Parts: sequence; structure tokens; C-alpha cells
Amino acid sequence: MKLSLFVKTGLFGLAAGSGDWEPKGHEWHPPLPEDSRSPCPGLNAMANHGWLPRSGKNIDLAAVRFGVTGAYNYAPTTFDDAFAQAVSFNLTTTGNGSTFHLADLAKHDDIEFDGSLSRNDFYFGDNLHFDPAIFATVAERLGLYEAGDSEMDKYVTVETAAKARAARVQDAMRVNPTFNASANEMSGSPGTTALYLVTLWDDKVGAVPKAWIRSFFEKERIPYLEGYKLPETQKTSATITDMFERVLAAKV
Ligand code: HEM
Ligand SMILES: *[C@@H]1O[C@H](CO)[C@@H](O)[C@H](O)[C@H]1NC(C)=O
Ligand SMILES: *[C@@H]1O[C@H](CO)[C@@H](O)[C@H](O)[C@H]1NC(C)=O
Ligand SMILES: *[C@@H]1O[C@H](CO)[C@@H](O)[C@H](O)[C@H]1NC(C)=O
Repeated sequence: MKLSLFVKTGLFGLAAGSGDWEPKGHEWHPPLPEDSRSPCPGLNAMANHGWLPRSGKNIDLAAVRFGVTGAYNYAPTTFDDAFAQAVSFNLTTTGNGSTFHLADLAKHDDIEFDGSLSRNDFYFGDNLHFDPAIFATVAERLGLYEAGDSEMDKYVTVETAAKARAARVQDAMRVNPTFNASANEMSGSPGTTALYLVTLWDDKVGAVPKAWIRSFFEKERIPYLEGYKLPETQKTSATITDMFERVLAAKV
């Protein structure tokens, strides 16, 4: 009995290829109605996998440090500044100035800004939840549903991602009469593009698998089932800054 189970698991493991399972205790579960989620797919995906409290509530710095390392292999302190910034805006509704609920991050014009890749602008009523129509415009520009002939068609390059995010901001500026992002907020757009590129980067290829981007934004699911593995080399704020420069330097 035990042996046959072992053999079966072994064969299945081989057939499925290594890496495409979810770590024990960190399986993806969509949020329950009472759970708190943010405009940030990175943090939401962590909560959906239990790398942050699945409730999305009372998030403190220690929880973020634990989560970004366990989920994406960032150095634990990589997001300390982002956390401190969130707290400094006094957007928390937890009653404790050292914590926030994920939904608190949607407060417009603090960290949350117009022209996001997967959310609509505050002006249109919902800047918090994934917006399929908005993301469809980005997915189209990234070619997420195009399966071309060449191997490279399975990946998104830095240049393609840079173009898609610039075009999305142009769209938002055209249709949103209140689009008024500050300079700081405008740098958030290439910044968050750099973030998803670094997080989902496939080192062997030097680009990001389209299937991983779909999972990350559309399901807020870490793409373990599509072959994502915890990167061996730890990423830091320097990795993000380098990618930010590359996004800005790309011809759009
Ligand atoms: C304490 C840490 C973090 C905080 C406070 C935070 C907060 C936010 C907020 C408020 C937004 C909304 C910005 C907007 O309006 O577009 C956002 C967007 C975003 N965040 Fe985070 N985030 C954190 C960590 C992360 C991590 C670890 C990742 C990657 C794994 C990530 C990836 C993204 C991406 C890709 C977006 C853009 C979403 C879009 O444009 O639709 N963030 N984040
Ligand atoms: C947040 O609250 C602190 C303490 O009350 C205050 O000093 C600070 O100016 C507030 N920050 C913002 C952005 O309102
Ligand atoms: C506020 O949250 C911090 C971080 O989790 C915790 O250390 C502290 O004890 C909390 N303060 C109160 C008054 O609950
Ligand atoms: C954007 O508009 C809102 C509402 O009119 C205003 O409160 C905010 O200060 C403006 N932000 C910037 C960066 O101009």
C-alpha cells in the first residue's frame, strides 16, 4: 500500500516535471468574503497562499518580511520602506499605527494612484479590485494570449512591459478627467512594472513567462503550477532599482 503510493507519487512527480506543486500549507485559496484584500497583486497573492495572514488583516512589518522571503525570495527588509510609507500615511483602520488591513492600501493618492495595470482609476468608482476590462487592454499589449511560433513568444520582455505600462497611463490620462498623479505617483507606474518583472523573472530566459503573469494578476496566485519555483538567488531593493532603470530606459 505504502509502496504503491510512493511509486505513484514518484511517477507523477516525474511526469509533471519538477517544481510544479504548491508548498505544503501555502496552497492557493481565493479570499473569503470577510477577508481583506488590496490594490496590490503582490500582497494579495501572498495572502492567498498564506505567506501573509489569509485574512489580510492586521499586517505588520514582521509579516511582510516573512512573506516576501517565503513567497518570492526577496531579502526580508526589501519592502521595509514601502511598509513604512504605508504606515506614515495614517491610512490604517486597525486601531494600531504599526499595522494595516490590506484594503486600507486603496486610499487614493497615498500609495494608490491612477493608471494601474489591473485596477481602474479611483474616479471610475473602484480602484481596489482586479478589473478584467482594464487588464484586458494590458494583456493585449503584452500578448498574453498569443501563442506564436517561436519559443520567445511565451515570454514578455522588459521592452514590451515598458511599452504596455506607458500606453496604459496614456489611456488613463485620456479618459479620466481627474487624472492628477503627482511626480511621485507617476514613478509608481514604472516601479510596479519593475516589481512584477523582478518577481516573476525567469533567469534562464531573461524574460517573464506569460503564463506566470496571467496567474499573478488574474488569479492573484503564485504560479507554482506553471513551474514557478522560489528563485535561488535572493533579490534585493538593488535588483528592483536596476529593473526600474531598465523599464525607464526602454524605448516606448
Ligand atoms: C509592504 C509592501 C507593499 C506595499 C505597501 C504595496 C502597496 C501597493 C499599492 C498600494 C499598490 C497600488 C498602486 C496602484 O495604484 O497601482 C500596489 C501595486 C502593485 N504592487 Fe505592491 N505593495 C507592496 C509589496 C509588493 C510586492 C512584494 C510586489 C510583488 C511581488 C508588489 C507588486 C505590485 C504590483 C505589480 C502593483 C501594480 C498593480 C497594478 O498596476 O495593477 N507589491 N502595491
Ligand atoms: C500621521 O500622523 C502623525 C501623528 O499623528 C502626524 O505627525 C503625521 O503628520 C501624519 N501624516 C500624515 C501624512 O497625515
Ligand atoms: C501593534 O502592533 C504591533 C505589531 O504587530 C505590536 O507589536 C503591538 O503590540 C501592537 N500594539 C497594541 C497596542 O496592540
Ligand atoms: C488630486 O485630486 C484630489 C481631489 O481633487 C486632490 O485631493 C489631490 O491633492 C490631487 N493630487 C495631486 C497629486 O494633485
